[in-house]
Amino acid sequence: MGVTAVILAAGRGERFGSDKVLARLGGKPVWRWSFETLLSHPAVSSVGIVASETNINSIRPLAPEAAFVVTGGATRQESSRIAAEAAAGDILLIHDAARPFVSHGLIDGVLAAINQGSAGAPAVRVSDTIRHLDEAGATLLDREKLFGMQTPQGARRADLLTAHSQNQGDFTDELGLLDSAGFSVQLTPGDPQNFKITTSDDLAKARGIVGFVETRTGLGYDIHAFSHDANRPMMLGGVRFEVTGLEGHSDADVLLHAATDALLGAASLGDIGVHFPNTDPRWKGEPSLTFLRHAASLVREAGWEIVNLDVAVIAEQPKIMKKSLEIRQNMADALAVEVGRVSVKATTNERLGSLGREEGIAAFATATIRER
Ligand code: CTP
Ligand code: MG
Repeated sequence: MGVTAVILAAGRGERFGSDKVLARLGGKPVWRWSFETLLSHPAVSSVGIVASETNINSIRPLAPEAAFVVTGGATRQESSRIAAEAAAGDILLIHDAARPFVSHGLIDGVLAAINQGSAGAPAVRVSDTIRHLDEAGATLLDREKLFGMQTPQGARRADLLTAHSQNQGDFTDELGLLDSAGFSVQLTPGDPQNFKITTSDDLAKARGIVGFVETRTGLGYDIHAFSHDANRPMMLGGVRFEVTGLEGHSDADVLLHAATDALLGAASLGDIGVHFPNTDPRWKGEPSLTFLRHAASLVREAGWEIVNLDVAVIAEQPKIMKKSLEIRQNMADALAVEVGRVSVKATTNERLGSLGREEGIAAFATATIRER
């Protein structure tokens, strides 16, 4: 029997506030956790991914082992149908990408139910006392008979396709759909650890379980020659200096270019040339603080927060440290961090080499980021 597993990662994460399956958890995105567990299960022969239009381009390059990566639908049910159509095996396991801690034992239970001729899904007893509220009032329910449903939920793929084609209503899981279409269903042992990340509190709980928050560092370097045009303004760290400026397509702010590259590098997001090509008219004449601000938003979207930036400028002149607080404040505002997280330093090149001959200015920067 060929078992295909599919993780559903096409939701919008509205209750979470952003795309929760892309959130960073212990060194990888949330979706990678269950993806790897399913891949390594001995009975699972392939694993596919149903992504959203907005996250498919960040998921695909990180999923070289995936049997397929396809775009999902507007509801979970629609994404589940797309998963069933894209899968190859005759047995299908459908799993929420938002449940990182699924175990092999839990998967075994679902597969055992399918072997016995039923569809299977893990269930856990509810621990709270539950009341059902309607016009008649709040009725106490018998907690012993209540279960919370988890994933993966599994069935014969043909049965799932039949149930989807009958489309009996709105269901938030496969078992509900299969049940309504008349297929036999079985509850299998669930696990409280296999909880779904729904709100940011759930991510904090998951971080506590993993016990590791990844930190990364990036390096940036840039150099620009002094301009022959005496009227060209000198911009360093978004601050104007009263000396002849540097050559360049943009405002040639060498300090901010190094800082932007360090930040992009920390998150493995390429470099300044990739995001702000000097052939793109959109960036022509833009102050370089715009690049730093945009890089910071890309880094945040990728699930990181900024820990600190440190810049070293190599220039015989002008004297940069006189305006270092202004520069740090500009950068901190662009990065949306407090000024204490940004450092700027300067040194001369002791009259050595091209920088020492005042042919140009160079800057190095490092940036440190952590999972947010
Ligand atoms: N899902 C999906 N396609 C949808 C909706 C949900 O693939 N159209 C996936 C989610 O990515 C998630 C799982 O189904 O892994 C469970 O759904 P849920 O927890 O509701 O996630 P979201 O829909 O993303 O969250 P919210 O309802 O808060 O927007
Ligand atoms: Mg949802």
